[in-house]
Amino acid sequence: MKTILITGSTDGIGKLTAMKLAKAGHHVIIHGRNKKKLQTTIKELVGVSDQSRVSGYVADLSDLKSVENFGIQIATNYTKLDILINNAGVFRSPVSKNNQGLDIRLAVNYLAPFILTNDLLPLIKKSEEPRIINLSSAAQASVSLKALAGTEKIGIQEAYAQSKLAITMWSFWLANQEPNLNVIAINPGSLLNTKMAMEAYGQFWAPVDKGANILVKLTTEPKKENHSGQYFDNDKGDFNQAHLDAYSNILISSLISETEKIIKDKNDK
Ligand SMILES: NC(=O)c1ccc[n+]([C@@H]2O[C@H](COP(=O)([O-])OP(=O)(O)OC[C@H]3O[C@@H](n4cnc5c(N)ncnc54)[C@H](OP(=O)(O)O)[C@@H]3O)[C@@H](O)[C@H]2O)c1
Repeated sequence: MKTILITGSTDGIGKLTAMKLAKAGHHVIIHGRNKKKLQTTIKELVGVSDQSRVSGYVADLSDLKSVENFGIQIATNYTKLDILINNAGVFRSPVSKNNQGLDIRLAVNYLAPFILTNDLLPLIKKSEEPRIINLSSAAQASVSLKALAGTEKIGIQEAYAQSKLAITMWSFWLANQEPNLNVIAINPGSLLNTKMAMEAYGQFWAPVDKGANILVKLTTEPKKENHSGQYFDNDKGDFNQAHLDAYSNILISSLISETEKIIKDKNDK
């Protein structure tokens, strides 16, 4: 039995993955921003699992201070975390910026997992087989450090694609920094039938199952080869090439420096 934290597991791919992992007997820690949806999801999970193996937390990941508090709560309540799936994500949103003036997509899809993972690293390192799975996408675009810092305005689609390349670049960096961890960035499959895909494009190409099944596989399958620091593209069904920027040490270094600066500014305010 593994202890698995899945962010954004009150809907879509995250929720279905949580159901499957709970059914398989793992301890699943779910997370969402909406208390009612979280409670409903917990009930559904308890229906297929054991109450003692399901827990849930509410945190708005667009608020970076709330991300930090979430990390503190997990670190207080658990001694070890085997798997962290940074799944929560946003495309369309009624608000375009967070309380720090940062683009909501860049904050939720990239800065939040960066902060949460750093805060949980001591717990993850206690696992015998630690894994961090970061949700990327086929949509990846070169990251503007100005947009990341909130000083350049960009469109919704562009911000989403930049957030997904940023999480991919950081995944590769983290895998390099922490060779004992297994860090993978993954495109779960394009246009899977979820709230996000329907809001963004009004259509879907494949069922949610496609994304949940690959997350379950990458989470639980015994490690045969070392794929840490790689990108799994579920449109192709295999590890594949990410955007070229993800292989530039110079671009990755600039991204990490700017990210650390933005996070420090948040802490100083
Ligand atoms: N669906 C696709 O075709 C596709 C393709 C490529 C990549 N992805 C990625 O896969 C991941 C899951 O997407 P999905 O399609 O399953 O989307 P979804 O159905 O909209 O689910 C997203 C989850 O993230 C949560 N979330 C959103 N904003 C949040 C915030 N500010 N704080 C905390 N939680 C927040 C949502 O909470 P609520 O339930 O309250 O909304 C929900 O639980 C995302 O990272 C997405 O970018 C999806």
